[in-house]
Amino acid sequence: MIADLQQLEKDALAELDSARTADAVQAVRTKYLGRKGLLTGLLRNIASVPPEEKPLFGKRCNEVKERLEAGIAAVQDRQAQAQKEDVLAREKIDVTLPGRGIRPGRVHPITQIRREICDVFAAFGFSVVEGPEVELDYYNFEALNIPKDHPARDMQDTFYISDNMVLRTHTSPVQVRIMEKVQPPVRILSPGRVYRPDSDVSHTPMFHQIEGLLVDRGVSFADLKGILSAFLKKVFGEDTVLRFRPSFFPFTEPSAEVDIRCVMCAGKGCRVCGQSGWLEILGSGMVDPAVFQNVGYDPEVYTGFAFGLGLERIAMLKYGISDIRLLFENDIRFLRQF
Ligand code: PHE
Repeated sequence: MIADLQQLEKDALAELDSARTADAVQAVRTKYLGRKGLLTGLLRNIASVPPEEKPLFGKRCNEVKERLEAGIAAVQDRQAQAQKEDVLAREKIDVTLPGRGIRPGRVHPITQIRREICDVFAAFGFSVVEGPEVELDYYNFEALNIPKDHPARDMQDTFYISDNMVLRTHTSPVQVRIMEKVQPPVRILSPGRVYRPDSDVSHTPMFHQIEGLLVDRGVSFADLKGILSAFLKKVFGEDTVLRFRPSFFPFTEPSAEVDIRCVMCAGKGCRVCGQSGWLEILGSGMVDPAVFQNVGYDPEVYTGFAFGLGLERIAMLKYGISDIRLLFENDIRFLRQF
């Protein structure tokens, strides 16, 4: 019996030694020390041990049991420790690494330009107003002296919502909405989104314009020239060279487009200015008397001028951006430069 006991201990320790997982260790424990385990079985057989050997046999059994239990506990400890170290190694955080930092956001270039222009005109006494982007045909066209079927409607391709509703193609309808509400003097600036079905490197279906309107007694073309010159020199620099070129808009008469000497080639002619040496910047003119009549102003008493310009175009020229779409892709690497 004692020999059986010794053999059992040897086997158990050998199995424990090769038990690699917690489950394997548990299996060894069950096999030897469980209720139906081998050691338990030996103890149960104590009846067949001669009486004089019983005390010694019992003592040995208990010693083996204690050693096995201690051995199992040690292996379990080692396994738990190894597992903990493994988790620590996998989840290690090197607190000495430099931090990633959070970069502050920047104001979008279009917003920067809009603010800059509004600030310049605020100094001339203009206040900022807004109007709807979904606009009645009446305000976008009719009231601006562009009747249905008038060829001037072809100047601007249009997104129609319904027969008499459009996505505004320009900010000029805001002029009419304001003049319907207030009596002169009027000095307003109206920034906002406008829509035209166009898409290439210099056109997007949605872009931004700013409209300006000044109405009072005795306003002349000289005032238009003076204010627009001062404005463009503020935005593009004091030695900007300008020209006022006769043009046509149904809602202004006379009309002029304002060009600046090309900022890329200084007038020598390049790809940006189409070899002309000039860049078209804005449309302007003296408000047509027909528009005044539509809003109930007396054209014999009041005169005024209006102008409109595209913010994307100004931003592209000012910052040397070659593709308008960059302004709307919101690529952080692009936006960070401004
Ligand atoms: N609304 C015109 C356009 O979008 C610009 C403009 C505004 C021209 C005001 C003259 C006066 O093309």
